[in-house]
Amino acid sequence: MTIILGIESTAHTFGVAVVKDKKILSNCKDAFTTSSGEGGMIPIEVAKHHIKVKDELYSKAIKEAGISESKIDAIAFSIGPGLAPCLLEGMKFAKELSFRLNKPLVGVNHCIAHLEVGEVTGAKDPVMLYASGANTQVIAYEAGKYRVFGETLDLGVGNFIDTIARHAGLGFPGGPKIQELASKGKNYIELPYRVKGMDIALSGIQTKVKQMIDRKEYSLEDISYSLQETVFAMLVETAERALAHTGKKELLLGGGVACNSRLQEMCKIMCEERGVKFFCPERSLLVDNAGMIAYLGEIIFNSGITEDISKVDILPRQRTDDVEVKWK
Ligand code: ATP
Ligand code: FE2
Repeated sequence: MTIILGIESTAHTFGVAVVKDKKILSNCKDAFTTSSGEGGMIPIEVAKHHIKVKDELYSKAIKEAGISESKIDAIAFSIGPGLAPCLLEGMKFAKELSFRLNKPLVGVNHCIAHLEVGEVTGAKDPVMLYASGANTQVIAYEAGKYRVFGETLDLGVGNFIDTIARHAGLGFPGGPKIQELASKGKNYIELPYRVKGMDIALSGIQTKVKQMIDRKEYSLEDISYSLQETVFAMLVETAERALAHTGKKELLLGGGVACNSRLQEMCKIMCEERGVKFFCPERSLLVDNAGMIAYLGEIIFNSGITEDISKVDILPRQRTDDVEVKWK
């Protein structure tokens, strides 16, 4: 039996969670918000938010899990990739706890955690379509490493949608608002479709959509609808190509944009046509959360890997395929 405390702090969300034997006992979080949205998100300000909420979230996570802190076996934290000032607060907090409780530290890659926590839905060896604010990647485990088969060449799909929503005066986060408008759209407006192999590019489409909004030729409903249909088709196409390439039989969704019901539907249709199983965790595990950090942290800890507290450091630019996978 192992009990792992997890800490997430790669971007605007600070989270603390407890996992025991692959069961998520608590998964608490608080996200920094600003009306101006991601474009106005200053990392130092976000880091201050994390300092402010950390102790309360810790107490809440322990309480909700119904454990005493002395029972914790290790402290897992997101080591990267992410915004350096935010990652730093998470690591500092993890180190404080590690000293005070005299328990080892486990560093966890945020992107791989999104994939590994998919196991709670039944996924065993999936291709993951990871679509969040800052990240858009197609990832799978192959030949000893988690490999990025495809990714965005410029913007993360969530940031892409948020920027357009902000341009249209819809506020932040834009994803749910664009989804709502899209559900009322009827006419498809042709947009550039940018897939290069298993990669996608979004900045050209963004420019085009902003111009369409400025010209007021089309309704926001039709623009939102066309934007979702085009960009989600691009995502689904790259995921399908990765499935074909790897021969894997499972698709897993991850990241905040995966909350979008139209994206889920399009993935489901593609999977049915290919005879592939489709998995989509509940919302609390799709968005950034500490539950997934504790979850993968437990797997890593149980394989005997911990960090040297005097040497460990954050890895803001850690690449998914740079991670040495010693726990599989
Ligand atoms: P990461 O650090 O993993 O890149 P993140 O901190 O940007 O992630 P998440 O919490 O994973 O964020 O996701 C936030 C994003 O999800 C925002 O861009 C938001 O607009 C988007 N989003 C949330 N709900 C929906 C939805 N229903 N449709 C589309 N996008 C959505
Ligand atoms: Fe994330």
